Amino acid sequence: MAKEKKGEYRDVGKIAIYPGSFDPITYGHIDIVERALEIFDKVIIAIAENAEKRSLFSVEERLQMVKTIFKDTPNVIVDSFKGLLVNYVAKTNAKVSLRGLRATSDFEYEFHMASMNRSLNTHLDTLFMMTSKDYFFVSSRTIKEVARLGGGVEGLVPDLVVRRLKEKFKLPVAKKKQIGWDD
Ligand code: PNS
Repeated sequence: MAKEKKGEYRDVGKIAIYPGSFDPITYGHIDIVERALEIFDKVIIAIAENAEKRSLFSVEERLQMVKTIFKDTPNVIVDSFKGLLVNYVAKTNAKVSLRGLRATSDFEYEFHMASMNRSLNTHLDTLFMMTSKDYFFVSSRTIKEVARLGGGVEGLVPDLVVRRLKEKFKLPVAKKKQIGWDD
């Protein structure tokens, strides 16, 4: 590698993209980001805007929550993307997509997704990190279900997310209908 190339490379640093729905972000996600920062210089949290997947929180709400949570962590960039992950990754200097694995049940879905992404962009690798034992049972889906049914999710998601979940599930029926969300 040419000397100036090396310098360029050092300046850019190692970047990982952490894509996901983050609907909402949990301490399981946050733990992955914190551990990834031990390996990478920057982590880009890329919130997917997926029209086919109905989310509880709008992409703006998810961005606001995640940006607030990482406001004091300069090496974390929070962004959103539409469409294919590989197209978003191409706009960055990242070579790695980061995903958390909770259990073997996650593996098949993740394996297919990583293989498809690799086939779309041979330069993109997916790095799996095992979720910490404290959060292996935590998923955004179960957090929403428990919160909707009035259970406590404190300690599994940041306080800000606890508050936002409470606000969401207190919405009047008319408002829920208006935003196309029914429980
Ligand atoms: O948190 P999630 O819902 O498991 O994240 C899934 C996500 C957003 C990473 C995945 O659905 C994705 O990358 N969507 C963008 C569309 C895409 O690139 N699909 C091809 C990979 S199969």
